[in-house]
Amino acid sequence: MKIAILPGDGIGPEIIEQAVKVLNVLGESFELETAPVGGAGYAAHGHPLPEGTLALAKAADAVLFGAVGDYQYDNLERALRPEQAILGLRKQLGLFGNLRPAILYPELAGASTLKPEVVSGLDILIVRELTGDIYFGQPRGVRECPDGPFKGQREGFDTMRYAEGEIRRIAHVAFQAAQKRGKRLTSVDKANVLETFQFWKDIVTDVHKEYPDVALDHMYVDNAAMQLVRAPKKFDVIVTGNMFGDILSDCAAMLTGSIGMLPSASLDANNKGLYEPSHGSAPDIAGKGIANPLATILSAAMMLRYTFNKNEQADRIETAVKSVLAQGLRTADIFEPGTTKVGTAEMGNAVVKALAA
Ligand code: NAI
Ligand code: MG
Repeated sequence: MKIAILPGDGIGPEIIEQAVKVLNVLGESFELETAPVGGAGYAAHGHPLPEGTLALAKAADAVLFGAVGDYQYDNLERALRPEQAILGLRKQLGLFGNLRPAILYPELAGASTLKPEVVSGLDILIVRELTGDIYFGQPRGVRECPDGPFKGQREGFDTMRYAEGEIRRIAHVAFQAAQKRGKRLTSVDKANVLETFQFWKDIVTDVHKEYPDVALDHMYVDNAAMQLVRAPKKFDVIVTGNMFGDILSDCAAMLTGSIGMLPSASLDANNKGLYEPSHGSAPDIAGKGIANPLATILSAAMMLRYTFNKNEQADRIETAVKSVLAQGLRTADIFEPGTTKVGTAEMGNAVVKALAA
């Protein structure tokens, strides 16, 4: 179980330190190796994704990533900016399945903009395809409009595409994720209007034959957006394309109101993955010891579940997180009157203590 630890810059090193503490007390024989990435990669080797870091990530079974993008690197040319590291890793590791849970612990129900009864205890998972769709389809550009009432004017155009194999592999990721959870999958499409998504629907329906223990339903994306806000707890796992997933996963994340709590995974076809908090490097609070490490700790739990198939250990971590929240411990981002404010390391230590209990 080789894990590449890539702390990054900004709050990255502070939050990763807590997740590493948690991994170290589980009693498993992980091989952890750390390398610089993002701004830290640039500072050490002049590149956001140094060769040694990429080699380490490729050789590992999983990557635990902090965050990148501190302000001090804002003036670098685009190719050297910290964010290039995450794009490079996704591409080089062939990561196409983005898993974004939206979890709202009952203790934090007040953090959401929605009524507590609508979101309290929310635990859904959005599986977003990352490599295809209108974001990458060719041809694209600006050209002379060839027909219709605007013929002869300039028009912008893009191409929506999904190859059968691309749909099949994300469908497998989603069905397998559903098997590890509530065994229900909703495939979100726009099959009523788009050929690409009628094809998507047909292929997902075909892959379903291999997962008879999972209940599949299909939903149009406009209805899915509505249901996510109206009754989000009705969902278990949602699978969708790159663009719909981009929008729906941000919407679902905000149902919980607390970016410092949300983990994520990006998987390849063999469940090798990169795990990171959904938030960025939070330069405004970096170095102050006040960042919330729970999204990163929960990302480590996802790593155990999805790459190493260690569901029990993942459950242990998630239970420990629930327990520190139940004790009333809060970092500044989730603080409410009547709770106890703690720093990054104190929160990490509390999770370690809860694990031991
Ligand atoms: P951000 O997520 O870094 O910060 C947004 C707000 O949330 C800030 O007020 C920040 O203090 C707060 N916040 C974020 N994580 C927190 C935590 N764990 N505990 C407490 N508060 C937390 O997003 P922003 O400000 O848009 O981006 C900052 C930098 O991070 C940019 O350079 C951006 O490109 C980069 N970024 C990197 C990502 C990655 O490493 N995968 C993802 C998103 C952004
Ligand atoms: Mg987005």
